Amino acid sequence: MNEVLLEKLQWRYAAKAFDPAKKISPEDWSTLEEALRLTPSSYGLQPWKFYVITDQELKDELIPASYGQTQVGNCSHLLVFTVTTDLSEADIDKYVETSCSVRGTEPESMEFFRNLIIGDVVTGPRSKDIPGWAKLQSYIALGNFMTCAAMLDIDCCPMEGFVQDAYDEALGLKKKGLTTAVVCPAGYRSDDDKYSALEKVRYSKEDLFEYI
Ligand SMILES: Cc1cc2nc3c(=O)[nH]c(=O)nc-3n(C[C@H](O)[C@H](O)[C@H](O)COP(=O)(O)O)c2cc1C
Repeated sequence: MNEVLLEKLQWRYAAKAFDPAKKISPEDWSTLEEALRLTPSSYGLQPWKFYVITDQELKDELIPASYGQTQVGNCSHLLVFTVTTDLSEADIDKYVETSCSVRGTEPESMEFFRNLIIGDVVTGPRSKDIPGWAKLQSYIALGNFMTCAAMLDIDCCPMEGFVQDAYDEALGLKKKGLTTAVVCPAGYRSDDDKYSALEKVRYSKEDLFEYI
């Protein structure tokens, strides 16, 4: 298991070109969907919505909004991580209700936790920048997705090189209280992508770790 994990992490890279003829199977996608759903988040609030674009026209339309990066067009599935721009008491109540229903507990038992969350993300310090806070959460989902995709021999390219407003506009996010956080086209690398053969550039363990 340890060897397989490191082998997959070496194999993966930020794919610059996908083979447009190769599509992710429904079975593999369903596993990745579940992996995304299982991503942990602060307080468990899951302040996101994952947009999955397979429509070729829309993928192509998003190339200019991605500074001309063509991998958003030739990928199989274009995954767009969007996050909530605001949190209200109703959002926290939805989480509390879901939690009580899943675990068979009474809402009263979560009153303290509910008020704690509200005092932080609805009325407290974190409420000042919900999109910023939610974006941090979405990167946990991104990391989770990239590793899980690699385990299934699926390529992807994490991307911050896009115009947020253009994505928000194309997906009609504003009226839904959402905004684009990060993007990740996924599929299968093209044989012509010279980046797949490049050595990984990473600092040494001595540079990166301090053991105390
Ligand atoms: C948050 C994030 C944003 C990135 N944005 C882009 C991007 O817009 N376009 C791109 O080609 N690569 C992008 N990359 C890929 C990085 O350049 C790449 O992951 C890094 O150089 C390490 O190489 P590797 O992923 O191939 O191992 C991004 C990576 C991350 C994690």
